[in-house]
Amino acid sequence: MFFGGKTSFGLDIGSSYIKAVQLREKRRGFELDLFDFIQLPPELIVDGSIIDSMRLAEALKELIRKARIKTKTAAIGIAGHASVIIRRIALPEMTEEELSESIKFEAEQYVPFDIEDVNIDFQILGPKEEPGQMDVMLVAVKKDIINEYVSVVKEAGLTPLVVDVDAFALGNMYEVNYEIEAGKNLAIVNVGARTMNLNLLKNGVSIFTRDSSIGSNVVTEALQKAFNLPYETAEKLKRGEHADGTSPEDASPVMAAAYEELVTEITRSIEYFQTTSVHEEVGRIILSGGGALLREFPKFLAEKASVEVGISEPFRNISIPKRFDRTYIEEIAPLAAVAVGLALRRPGDR
Ligand SMILES: Nc1ncnc2c1ncn2[C@@H]1O[C@H](COP(=O)(O)OP(=O)(O)OP(=O)(O)O)[C@@H](O)[C@H]1O
Ligand SMILES: [Mg+2]
Repeated sequence: MFFGGKTSFGLDIGSSYIKAVQLREKRRGFELDLFDFIQLPPELIVDGSIIDSMRLAEALKELIRKARIKTKTAAIGIAGHASVIIRRIALPEMTEEELSESIKFEAEQYVPFDIEDVNIDFQILGPKEEPGQMDVMLVAVKKDIINEYVSVVKEAGLTPLVVDVDAFALGNMYEVNYEIEAGKNLAIVNVGARTMNLNLLKNGVSIFTRDSSIGSNVVTEALQKAFNLPYETAEKLKRGEHADGTSPEDASPVMAAAYEELVTEITRSIEYFQTTSVHEEVGRIILSGGGALLREFPKFLAEKASVEVGISEPFRNISIPKRFDRTYIEEIAPLAAVAVGLALRRPGDR
């Protein structure tokens, strides 16, 4: 028992799927213990807010049963521009202890909510070029949104030990799986059903993040409208299946128009970053989330945004035991990106 390694459990509660990943820490790296997910009925989570906590807790319990999840603790993630504020700010140089004392005061001007209504965390990124100044990543998350998620997870019988931000979980996923390319800026873009999280890394360190409320549901909705289809049928068509007399070929132009919207939002986020950091190019995008599985979307994005696009491989450096269907896991792996990042977190980490 003592040599089995520590396990940790990440729970990514999205608006369309709850994803669970458990990793086992071995002497040499990580091994996959569990990866499973469950689809949610629409409208349980809207704009990052939980609308129906009872049904969400039920779904989570069902996932726990179906995946035979034994662990009692989890790391969960929060996202959404309405409840998460992440800003890189310049502050006078001080120690971590000193900043812990004054962060609330410093944060006040950057947080558009009452400072008492948010939980605040920070990370000192390093000195700035101007003497006496340092770069700090400030994170503020609304307490009520944390409470919503924490109580659903507790309701399902788990204790959330870590509450992280989805964009940062993507950074952790990247760190264990990829070699850092010095000097190159890279954007990890997670395209979910209704949200998009972007984390921009420079030399492997997060320097900019942005969440938007658009996701691959725009494709589903466009198909529903164009062919007058119910949600489930449009979802099938989106995945490349024939549906109610409509072929994937018929669907292609409609999907391409919706892809444009996603591309526009991704480029907008990158331009946003560029207005704050002149002369910074983004050399590569790594796509994750369900949006990475959209037919031809990575290619479409690469052409429209003139940038190299790769699909995230969250299990690239994580060994997959033989009991798993490896081909299947690799096929849907981009869905697990945030959950893998969460599973890598330890209580007390920064
Ligand atoms: N094989 C597939 N092909 C195309 N799209 C897919 C496929 N599998 C899932 N999707 C789409 O991916 C989306 C779900 O992705 P993901 O699990 O990343 O979102 P989520 O985390 O639930 O949503 P959000 O983070 O926006 O709340 C859905 O819109 C679904 O239609
Ligand atoms: Mg998601």
